[in-house]
Amino acid sequence: MIVQNAKLKQYGKMAQVKVLFVCLGNICRSPLAEGIFRNKIEQKGMASRFVVDSCGTAAYHVGEHPDGRSVANARKNGVEYDHLGRQLKEQDFYRFDYILAMDEYNLADIHRLQPADAKAQVMMMRAFDPMDENANVPDPYYGGEDGFQLVFEILERSTEHLLARLMKDHSLS
Ligand code: 4NP
Repeated sequence: MIVQNAKLKQYGKMAQVKVLFVCLGNICRSPLAEGIFRNKIEQKGMASRFVVDSCGTAAYHVGEHPDGRSVANARKNGVEYDHLGRQLKEQDFYRFDYILAMDEYNLADIHRLQPADAKAQVMMMRAFDPMDENANVPDPYYGGEDGFQLVFEILERSTEHLLARLMKDHSLS
């Protein structure tokens, strides 16, 4: 009994894997990546094992809900989500284990802010997309509906493979 209780306590304290998705404005791509990823971990019953958030390198849309076009497109694809925009800050590099950049401009901006002793591993989102591991997640902000659907499909694939990799690396099942 005592052993069992000790085990439960251990499980209760199991470290969470902390993932931060980053784009420019934090109203289109990164909140969608967060929403799709969250949907996946909830479906797998793994939500308590992760901390998930998103932010932008710019402050243009701080405090705003995600772009309505992105939300409507995600809903068509079966994903509901919400978020309030915030800007990337130095503390994020110590709080999160993984920071996922949507494009190469985001990556450069992230590296500019990254402290030398950062804990977070910074990676490109599409490094996990088997259809093109060297591409950006395109910015859909100035485009039409097709662009939002394309971004959804890219993020669906990329977050699926990211999650598989994290579950393997952190021995989660
Ligand atoms: P996001 O898209 O980086 O995917 O959120 C954008 C949102 C807003 C702007 C640019 C990109 N903007 O210029 O306001």
